[in-house]
Amino acid sequence: MPDMAEQKATNIVWHQGAVTREDRELLNGHKGCTVWLTGLSGSGKSTIAVALEKLLLDKGVRAFILDGDNVRHGLNKNLGFSPEDRTENIRRIGEVAKLFTNAGVVTLTAFISPYRADRDQVREVMDAGDFVEVHVHAPLEVCEQRDVKGLYKKARAGEIKEFTGISAPYEAPEKAELMIDTSALSVEQSAQTIFDHLAKAGLLPA
Ligand code: ADX
Repeated sequence: MPDMAEQKATNIVWHQGAVTREDRELLNGHKGCTVWLTGLSGSGKSTIAVALEKLLLDKGVRAFILDGDNVRHGLNKNLGFSPEDRTENIRRIGEVAKLFTNAGVVTLTAFISPYRADRDQVREVMDAGDFVEVHVHAPLEVCEQRDVKGLYKKARAGEIKEFTGISAPYEAPEKAELMIDTSALSVEQSAQTIFDHLAKAGLLPA
């Protein structure tokens, strides 16, 4: 398996623009950042991202969702669910999230991102404070019971290989900025909790 993150191109030079990130943030009236939602399939990442995005837009904050299932239809359509492909999936999303963040957008990502090292790597490529890791948590039994997409049933039947939580690992965050227990909180409460955290961190307009 070749290292997909290996630098291949040579003779490339970084080109600086005339507009800075600070200029963009001033224009927007808020900072850019990445809210990285991680958790099992069915834990509520996408649902919370949708609610949070609406909440932010309603308050005049430029927000945008990058969602696992959606990104896998386009940018990452050539990736599957092997550990290597998941790592590359997260690496690419991390780079895209960094671009959005530098464009001054509150970027919401909803990917299982099961490997701690992959998430830490994204945190690493971002500027300090830009990466807000949110563990969207619900017990496996709860996610499996919800089974919104019917995938747990298929995974149990052996029809889907390497399914996170069943036949592939999920490494829970150890130093997430926030943990949301979706078996205890409503979608609205979950979105509001993240919103309040961002406001407290000084990332949103006063
Ligand atoms: S990640 O592990 O690489 O971060 P990602 O969030 O992009 O995963 O995609 C997960 C989505 O793909 C799940 O919500 C589910 O709908 C679908 N999916 C299909 N096969 C699998 C699998 N083997 N494991 C997990 N999710 C899968």
